[in-house]
Amino acid sequence: MSTASLSDALNRIEASPTTAMTDRATELREQGRDVISLSVGEPDFATPAHVIEAAKAALDAGDTKYTPVTGTARLKRAAALHFERDLGIAANPRNVVVTAGGKQAIFEALAATVGEGDEVIIPAPWWVSYPQMVRFCGGTVVPLVTQASNGFRFGPADLEALITPRTRWLLLNSPGNPTGAVFPAEMLRTLAEVLRRHPQILVLSDDIYSPLIYTGARHATLAALCPELADRVCTVSGVSKSHAMTGFRIGVATGPAWLIEAIGRLQSNSTGNPASISQAAAVAAFEGPQEFLEGWRERFRARRDLVVAAVNAIPGLSTPVPDGAFYCFVDAAPLMNRFADDKALTLHLLGHGVAVVAASAFGGKDGFRISFAADEGVLENAMQRIAAALA
Ligand SMILES: Cc1ncc(COP(=O)(O)O)c(C=O)c1O
Repeated sequence: MSTASLSDALNRIEASPTTAMTDRATELREQGRDVISLSVGEPDFATPAHVIEAAKAALDAGDTKYTPVTGTARLKRAAALHFERDLGIAANPRNVVVTAGGKQAIFEALAATVGEGDEVIIPAPWWVSYPQMVRFCGGTVVPLVTQASNGFRFGPADLEALITPRTRWLLLNSPGNPTGAVFPAEMLRTLAEVLRRHPQILVLSDDIYSPLIYTGARHATLAALCPELADRVCTVSGVSKSHAMTGFRIGVATGPAWLIEAIGRLQSNSTGNPASISQAAAVAAFEGPQEFLEGWRERFRARRDLVVAAVNAIPGLSTPVPDGAFYCFVDAAPLMNRFADDKALTLHLLGHGVAVVAASAFGGKDGFRISFAADEGVLENAMQRIAAALA
């Protein structure tokens, strides 16, 4: 028995490069090297105390058994409240599914619907897992290449040019990982006009970073803006990024009843219900106070400004100002004559004590992603190291 036993589906995917870089940074640290990791996609803030209390209370109450596969009724109601209050989507708790992280919701939605030869349009740069999931399902990734000069946004003609009779999904992620781009309502409305002409296309709206927008604008999302399209939009959200609960593994999705039922069917034969304690904690996250988010946004905005200014002061590097999430997508094209590729560039930076992820991991090129979910002092130190490494 060997890797020859692996399925074709498995052989089409590789392990996440962001995790690989984070693991390498941890390994170096364990060897005593001084490495700052700006490669990971999670808030560095502590999980709010009321959420921790809810988890403890659930344990003490003996809330340690199976729950309904697609989540407790209480959490589905809390998630529906979140969809309505925070995203403007009128979600019926019956059409909500609770998953082990937003990642599982996206995987299950695609696994339930994508087959051999189906095409999935993904704006690039993209979150690393989207193309891997599509390939695992046998689908074909159709990149919709966006540019920093356009704020990594795209227009209706860009979308329409890629649509074929085999197009099954359009994936949207705003605020976006790795670019921090935010899609304004006007942009989504113009995309909706195209989608109305192509009724076979489903839309996955990954809104996991929705509370982290720094422009003061309200988050815009397709199912809320165009309710007439809502019967083919699957909106994914969660508590990982909004409440610093990455380790709890809770995501939520809402969409057409047939798709939510299909996701549940898959879940009932794979992972079963998400962890009962985590579900109780997520109820507290959705139903509890949200005011702390204003403070987090302030902190993230200050860190963003620090990193953007530092990047743009380094000769050969540039980045647009990200409007949301906690990533800067840095262009290093003018320096690429010094490196074989952007992976070599990130290994060079790692040698100088900073872990970041190559742009190519996200379907971009000649640059890297910096996560600014770290303390200001740490970020200043990291930016000095990057400047010294590239001097
Ligand atoms: C764009 C995007 N979607 C979904 C997820 C998944 O989040 P979760 O940890 O809830 O699975 C992530 C996490 O990095 C992400 O960046």
